[in-house]
Amino acid sequence: MRKKIIAANWKMYKTCSETENFIKEFKILAGNYNEKEVVICPPFTSLYVAKNLLEDTPFKLGAQNLFWEKEGAYTGEVSPIMLKDLNCSYVIIGHSERRQYFSESDEMINKKIKAAFAHGLTPIFCVGEKWEERQRGMTEEIIKRQVKNGLEGLEKNYIENLVIAYEPVWAIGTGHSAKGEDANEVARLIREIIAEMYGRDISEKIRIQYGGSVNPQNISEFLSQSEIDGALVGGASLKPESFWGIVKS
Ligand code: PGA
Repeated sequence: MRKKIIAANWKMYKTCSETENFIKEFKILAGNYNEKEVVICPPFTSLYVAKNLLEDTPFKLGAQNLFWEKEGAYTGEVSPIMLKDLNCSYVIIGHSERRQYFSESDEMINKKIKAAFAHGLTPIFCVGEKWEERQRGMTEEIIKRQVKNGLEGLEKNYIENLVIAYEPVWAIGTGHSAKGEDANEVARLIREIIAEMYGRDISEKIRIQYGGSVNPQNISEFLSQSEIDGALVGGASLKPESFWGIVKS
């Protein structure tokens, strides 16, 4: 059985004190909840505060990005070692906002995924088609390209821990989520691609999340699908009650 995983992607929201308030409130709501895996991915600047507040909880910490080098003259970047040092377990890689606004290519994403695994971080690897691509019937082609290029040359033993987030770009932050069955179809395609690359055993182990306008009202539509093992949540993860509503659904 794949344990469901719900991750909060806070994007560029929340100062340290806002992070502190959120986690304190969330801990009151969620207690020691452990049925699904819960991951909180605040901005880099809040990781230290979050680390301290999450220490005595079952909830995991994640970052939203990393750079693939261990250290060096890379002004403004953050390395996997630094994230490990902050007790991060997860790191979001290849989010469509990074692809779009920071020109992240499949090749860069591939390097980041390798660096994350090499340092004991589990990537939440994001893939997804744009609206025009879906309209033109290119979803399958885009997803195949992103998955294959993103995982190119990755050792088999890492892969089973991988989390892939299927996030159709048109559903992110728009209030227009995908339909459960459509998201499930793409999740199944992703599992097929992984099976082709690494074998059926491994493809049955990896967890695939849906992301894009998930909220407490629509989450069960996604979690009830056979191939969807959780959600990556943006907007609706910013308030403790709303995020808890999604987690406990
Ligand atoms: P959203 O964002 O839930 O606000 O649509 C999801 C994401 O970008 O991961």
